[in-house]
Amino acid sequence: MKFILLGAPGAGKGTQAQFLTKKFDIPQISTGDMLRAAIKAETPLGKQAKEFMDAGKLVTDEIIIGLVKDRIAEPDCANGFLLDGFPRTVPQADALKAAGVDIDAIIEIDVPDSEIVNRMAGRRVHPASGRTYHLTYNPPKVEGKDDETGEDLIQRDDDKADVVLDRLKVYHEQTAPLIGYYTDEAAKNASLKYIKVDGTQAIDKVENAILSGLK
Ligand code: AP5
Ligand code: ZN
Repeated sequence: MKFILLGAPGAGKGTQAQFLTKKFDIPQISTGDMLRAAIKAETPLGKQAKEFMDAGKLVTDEIIIGLVKDRIAEPDCANGFLLDGFPRTVPQADALKAAGVDIDAIIEIDVPDSEIVNRMAGRRVHPASGRTYHLTYNPPKVEGKDDETGEDLIQRDDDKADVVLDRLKVYHEQTAPLIGYYTDEAAKNASLKYIKVDGTQAIDKVENAILSGLK
């Protein structure tokens, strides 16, 4: 299966990706996690991406498209994958289409801006795996520690309140047009499902809504 998770920053894409990748035994391709790993490793890509990410802006389409094309050509993607955070602009969606990638479902997680700020403030992540927690809504078993490794959780640099507002603005300007783009695609193509779920529900309710949409 090949899925795309679409939604605003903090809508719960990473959270639902954890469950979907286990359920369907496919890799998660999170462009945000890939870029954060490149920044940590101080690679040329990381050096280029850091400035954009810290400001809440998008990294250029050219860089991202190359990154994703290389990743989906790897052997573990042969049976499918879940795209989290890509595509995020119309040119990125066009590039995916031009590459002949047949997507089975677009899953849109809908959360209003008012809820997003609260989600970001309480988010904590395990940088090595990308596992995501929330101080109130999804706390780790031991405070400040990852459930599986016991390693420290951190707060993302771009989760500061002022950057969050910039990220939301960028989402509405550049990524939200993909909602219309993919509903139109799904209307023309019977093998592409467009599933919209209410992301303000509890995490397990969102999971159930996605699964019933996929049936
Ligand atoms: P990226 O890492 O993709 O960030 P994002 O899209 O802004 O999304 P987030 O990871 O912030 O949110 P999420 O939807 O995964 O929510 P989560 O599950 O963590 O991108 C970061 C940056 O990289 C971009 O700004 C850009 O610079 C660059 N970039 C990445 N991809 C790019 C691309 N394709 N093109 C160009 N640039 C790109 O949940 C959030 C919090 O809410 C957590 O604490 C979680 O526990 C909690 N939560 C989740 N679900 C629920 C629920 N149902 N109820 C209560 N709490 C919940
Ligand atoms: Zn994420």
